[in-house]
Amino acid sequence: MAWAGLRGNGSACLQSALLSQPPVSAPISLQQLTDQLNSLENEAAAAIQQAVAASELEDLRVGLLGKKGRLSAVLGAMGKLPGEERPLVGQRANRLKELVQSLLNQRLETVKQGALTERLQRERLDVTAPCRYGPPGHRHPLISTIEEIVDIFAGLGYRVAEGPEIETDHYNFSALNIPEHHPARDMQDTFYLGGDRLLRTHTSPVQIRHLEANPPPVRIVAPGRVYRRDAVDATHSPVFHQVEVLALDEGLDFSHLRGTVTTFLQHFFGDLPVRFRASYFPFTEPSAEVDVQWRGRWLEVMGCGMVDPAVLEGLGLDPNRWSGFAAGLGVERFCMVRHGIDDIRRLFTSDLRFLEQF
Ligand code: DAH
Repeated sequence: MAWAGLRGNGSACLQSALLSQPPVSAPISLQQLTDQLNSLENEAAAAIQQAVAASELEDLRVGLLGKKGRLSAVLGAMGKLPGEERPLVGQRANRLKELVQSLLNQRLETVKQGALTERLQRERLDVTAPCRYGPPGHRHPLISTIEEIVDIFAGLGYRVAEGPEIETDHYNFSALNIPEHHPARDMQDTFYLGGDRLLRTHTSPVQIRHLEANPPPVRIVAPGRVYRRDAVDATHSPVFHQVEVLALDEGLDFSHLRGTVTTFLQHFFGDLPVRFRASYFPFTEPSAEVDVQWRGRWLEVMGCGMVDPAVLEGLGLDPNRWSGFAAGLGVERFCMVRHGIDDIRRLFTSDLRFLEQF
């Protein structure tokens, strides 16, 4: 072991010589036994003093005081002395035993202390050393865009809702008033998973799932990943992100929709002109697309409308009592406009030279 190696093997030699002495043989005198005990004491003391490891001390203990140890050998020879001399040797042997035991204990303490001190030295920490900094991570621009959007709606009293990315035909289409063979399905060709399961093409199914589980009034914002069978180019990706908005209550009308969407867009993009254009979505009536004037150009940024009564009826809600509005937006679009990013693929290729700019 390291300790023995450092100190040379002098103590090892001494120990093995000490421990391998043959048992004493008869006949024997009191003087001889006393001499043997004396020299045993001297040798033991020297060997213990030189031991540098707990295991060496244990070997010494066994060799000196153990059943087959040196002391037992001397005591065995004691039987050959006249009866009146035996107690003298016995007492001497007991003192020796106690002495050896206490020397072993003391040395063990010292050895342990030495090992501890050595370890403390070896494992010393230099708290003044300059540290190595790793590059600090930060949020992906898409994630911070989602957080910013959700934050604005949270400030307007909306709660976050989520739904599964693997949807059924029912939630993704039928419940949103998009029956089979309806041309609106062509605009959202998706990945079918077999049975009636598919990857959701928009976050609008969260509207249905949320209303099924939560009676109105509701105000929710639902961010998430959506999928479409689109070829990849500068503005299309088969995976992208949307945020859905839904408010359903008594007495909501188009002015609430207009006010909410305008407030949101002006928080996100700054105080820019916003316009609503009539449009069509199967699950809203009337429907609109919303543009913001960004650097002199009208940019289409989201769809919205008043929740279609047919959707409410499908959920067993009375359209004469409950009304509301919904809106949906593409996160990539918001992120690209805000940061002047020219190609959607940059958001998905994980190139640190690009991402580190944000
Ligand atoms: N789900 C639509 C889409 O993906 C976006 C949308 C339009 C959502 C109008 C709405 C809405 O909630 O009212 O194209």
